[in-house]
Amino acid sequence: MIEIAPGVVHHPGWLDRATQEALVTALRETAKAAPFFTPRMPRTGKPFSVRMTNCGALGWVSDEKGYRYQPTHPETGAPWPAMPDILLRAWAELAGYPHPAEACLVNFYEASAKMGLHQDRDEADFDAPVLSLSLGDTGVFRVGGTTRGGKTVSVKLQSGDALSFGGPARLAFHGIDRVIAGSSTLLPSGGRINLTMRRVTKPE
Ligand code: SIN
Ligand code: MN
Repeated sequence: MIEIAPGVVHHPGWLDRATQEALVTALRETAKAAPFFTPRMPRTGKPFSVRMTNCGALGWVSDEKGYRYQPTHPETGAPWPAMPDILLRAWAELAGYPHPAEACLVNFYEASAKMGLHQDRDEADFDAPVLSLSLGDTGVFRVGGTTRGGKTVSVKLQSGDALSFGGPARLAFHGIDRVIAGSSTLLPSGGRINLTMRRVTKPE
């Protein structure tokens, strides 16, 4: 593991190829129960370039009404499917936090998709880190400090990599500058999947 900035820990190759394949298979079931949707920016309604779905008790959604967590899919109204076991294990091993994750956001990036610098701050509990797993094409991840406009560092997230940001970096600005098309053979049609696990509510 490599601490790329205080509180930002990169675990290259944390999932082996067989586990990555098993996770993709599990996520195909997730997407059958909870189809990918295109989130929209608050107020303006401008569509994101990534498509999203969720698993776990709560899912993160965004539309004209704002960013929020909710227990149901915004289009089907159905509860989110359970998190695959591989994700529960990843959280238990890497989060260093005694309570389970409640939400896993699944982002799908086509070759042209990206995500601007933002903070993950819609959770009521910032004691737990944010834990991300990457699958498929490499993403160029950028992370900075807790104020916009500061110094940033970038790291390539390859298929199977885990990355957590917590403690002093829990509210760090982060985003994806670009996806490197053709850099992985995991997803037959290419693209990148990022899974972001989070604790949302404060434990009792
Ligand atoms: C996110 O911040 O929601 C996604 C980050 C990533 O795709 O690695
Ligand atoms: Mn984020």
